[in-house]
Amino acid sequence: MCGIVGYVGTNKAVPYLIEGLSKLEYRGYDSAGIAVNIGGAVKVIKAKGRLSNLERIVDMDMDTVLGIGHTRWATHGAPSDVNAHPHTNSNETIAVIHNGIIENYMEIKDWLINDKKCVFKSETDTEVIAHLIDYYYDGDLMSAVRKAADRMEGAYAIGVIAKDEPDRLVAVRKDSPLIVGLGVNENFIASDIPALLKYTRDILLIENDEFVDLSKDKVTIYNSLGQEQKREIYKVTWDIDAAEKEGFEHFTLKEIFEQPKGVRETLFRRLNAEDDLAMEGIRLTADELKNINKIYIVACGTAYHAGLVGRRAIEAFAKIPVECDVASEFRYRDPFIDERTLFIAVSQSGETLDTLQSLREAKRKGARVLSIVNVVGSSVARESDDLFYTWAGPEIGVASTKAFTTQLIAFYLIAMHFGRMNGKLTEEEFKTTITEMKTLPEKVTEVLAKSEEIQKLAAKQFNNEKVFFMGRGVDSDLAMEASLKLKEISYINSFAIPAGELKHGTIALIEDETFVVALATQDRLYDKMLSNIKEVKARGAHVFAIAKEGHLQIDKTADEVFYIPNTSDALAPLLAIIPMQLFAYYVSTLRGNDVDKPRNLAKSVTVE
Ligand code: G6P
Repeated sequence: MCGIVGYVGTNKAVPYLIEGLSKLEYRGYDSAGIAVNIGGAVKVIKAKGRLSNLERIVDMDMDTVLGIGHTRWATHGAPSDVNAHPHTNSNETIAVIHNGIIENYMEIKDWLINDKKCVFKSETDTEVIAHLIDYYYDGDLMSAVRKAADRMEGAYAIGVIAKDEPDRLVAVRKDSPLIVGLGVNENFIASDIPALLKYTRDILLIENDEFVDLSKDKVTIYNSLGQEQKREIYKVTWDIDAAEKEGFEHFTLKEIFEQPKGVRETLFRRLNAEDDLAMEGIRLTADELKNINKIYIVACGTAYHAGLVGRRAIEAFAKIPVECDVASEFRYRDPFIDERTLFIAVSQSGETLDTLQSLREAKRKGARVLSIVNVVGSSVARESDDLFYTWAGPEIGVASTKAFTTQLIAFYLIAMHFGRMNGKLTEEEFKTTITEMKTLPEKVTEVLAKSEEIQKLAAKQFNNEKVFFMGRGVDSDLAMEASLKLKEISYINSFAIPAGELKHGTIALIEDETFVVALATQDRLYDKMLSNIKEVKARGAHVFAIAKEGHLQIDKTADEVFYIPNTSDALAPLLAIIPMQLFAYYVSTLRGNDVDKPRNLAKSVTVE
């Protein structure tokens, strides 16, 4: 979703802005623009569509050392040149970029039009910010931004420049991500780290309701009361290569192939030399756990699917009742929560607004909050009592892959940790599972080594316009993730069903050559899955099954079988999802889609 960058320094600003925006493309956008201060005037250049459209009309050599840039994912008003950011006031003396939503913009806009005779050009909520800052501006940009922010409700990360202050950049954050990068004789703002990594590893994480005043040699952070805030420098330790494609055609493919590493890091960082758990970020004690009588897992998209798998792991290992909900529903259904509730938020970005707001709602009602997050220092991470960082590394492709498998590792470990604390998991069960888990990175590599099998399958099926995924037990959860992967990047109609539900409706859609993927990795439910496969085959379906090695009779039932290495039922989802990620990837490329940046989707959804 929208990305923002800003530069103030001594070098020419435009190349920094464009490079930064290119690193934010993955977040999802439909237009892009920059504003610079040049010769004492504010100049705005923007274009609908890809960043390359902007690059075509922008002069990289412009003589300017101050600028802001934006990639917009349309919310208020269609994607167009005029709705693209930056936006300005009527006289074009102030330019603003904004990620988020100003909820009371209509009210402010009416006032600005009727009482202040402002003329609006776009349909966006952002344009009111520029007019409002102009209204309060008396030569001090920070003071005007503070007054404007006082009147704005909603979520925002904003960057502002003014015609009369050619070496000053002001930014403010409320519920939308914002970081500052520190350079030598230059400073930056951005939505996230990849945009800055080429220039600096020294980052300041900006908190909610904070204002930042930047010049080329000074950065000052203020809280909402105007008091100066101290901030430790966060040193980025991961390599710039982690945010580059490194020879892979797409980030999505690179990230699928990074899973052995992500799984290994996430697991082994939590094991000490004796193979015991070292769950540092989780401070919840055995006594506190005793008091918990219910767990809610809340997330969106792929993270929600990881939550579904996690629910089964916690119920199996720790025997605590768990509900799992999508955050946009959880927020509005007035869930029964009290101080005996543990709320688990799952989020790759740690910035998904619905997840964040659900977390706040749960906290308000007294729940303890544990989060599973990938992005260090993100909002969800900062607002949690207990924290489990996945070690997937930066995930750029919109379709989440390595975040999912590392989230599963997080859930397995948390479930076992709880099970040991409350005595529901024996030491023997724990040891067996840990020993098995330690083989997972190698097994993920084995699955990836068979990617050609999936490539061939994709070559046969990529023109299909509908695909069904079915499974039982945890495979029914996994079917949802497999289906989401396919629809996100291939745009094929795909459906996920618990195989036992087939007869209650979906089987009516099965006809000759309907493509069905049967996930059949659960020993306990294996025979039942074979029956379901026979049912769809009898109606003409073409069935591709995923089963564990050693489950041989399935090759006589399904048309094609992909075998994953043998593992326990609980851990099988981590291996079984990989061929489905590859399938979605190969189908998408064969259909000529933009795999890393699928249409209409955003990597980090920071609006409701
Ligand atoms: C967006 C992304 C998905 C992601 C979901 C939740 O829809 O495109 O890939 O699963 O948001 O994001 P989060 O960062 O909270 O895991």
